[in-house]
Amino acid sequence: MPAGSSDLLHSLHASRYPGAAVHSGPLWLFAYGSLIWRPGFEYAERARGYVQGWSRRFWQGSTDHRGQPGAPGRVLTLTPDAEAACWGVAYRLDPGSQEATLRHLDVREQGGYERHGVEFQCADGARRASWPAIMYVAAPENPDYLGPARLEEIARQVSRASGPSGSNLEYVLELHAVLAALGMADAHVAELAALLSAGPAPQTEGRRAEPEANAQPRRPAL
Ligand code: SIN
Repeated sequence: MPAGSSDLLHSLHASRYPGAAVHSGPLWLFAYGSLIWRPGFEYAERARGYVQGWSRRFWQGSTDHRGQPGAPGRVLTLTPDAEAACWGVAYRLDPGSQEATLRHLDVREQGGYERHGVEFQCADGARRASWPAIMYVAAPENPDYLGPARLEEIARQVSRASGPSGSNLEYVLELHAVLAALGMADAHVAELAALLSAGPAPQTEGRRAEPEANAQPRRPAL
């Protein structure tokens, strides 16, 4: 890494994300959703582990990736939960491209997500350690936030939503599959995937979300 580049990155990070932890050293990104199965960037290293005090929930509306304006899909965010741990993977960003990677991710995750600092607990084979990371979280204050709903209602919404990155169903099922493959199945995701596989009750009111005929991804796919 060129001398001073890490300092510059961290001061930029601090000015844009005053609430996020700023640290020197390697930059790690914790992924808990589509960034696990579709990172879309080069990374130097990947480690399995968790963040303590957070739960993964389909509480964020998506009008730019897995839904459309007026017919949002439901994608993941994290919600504070003192008793819970959210499992996922952390990527050590390639030092030569980390600034470009963060710019790419800021565009991809701009539909309500902001960077947060977090302590990543690595539990990868014999590797037990913790270190600072960043993650993208959509807070309740963002305009696309949908919040809690009955799982059946979430399933109904997921089953009919689609956007420039693909169907909302794919988002849920890909995540469920990768979490199971990594040995970190998540009850909220698994219950939703089971409901969807069983075929949720059809929607009786409201407009059905159909993909636009010539929809082009406006930003990196999620
Ligand atoms: C993540 O994967 O870490 C953020 C949420 C998403 O993009 O699905």
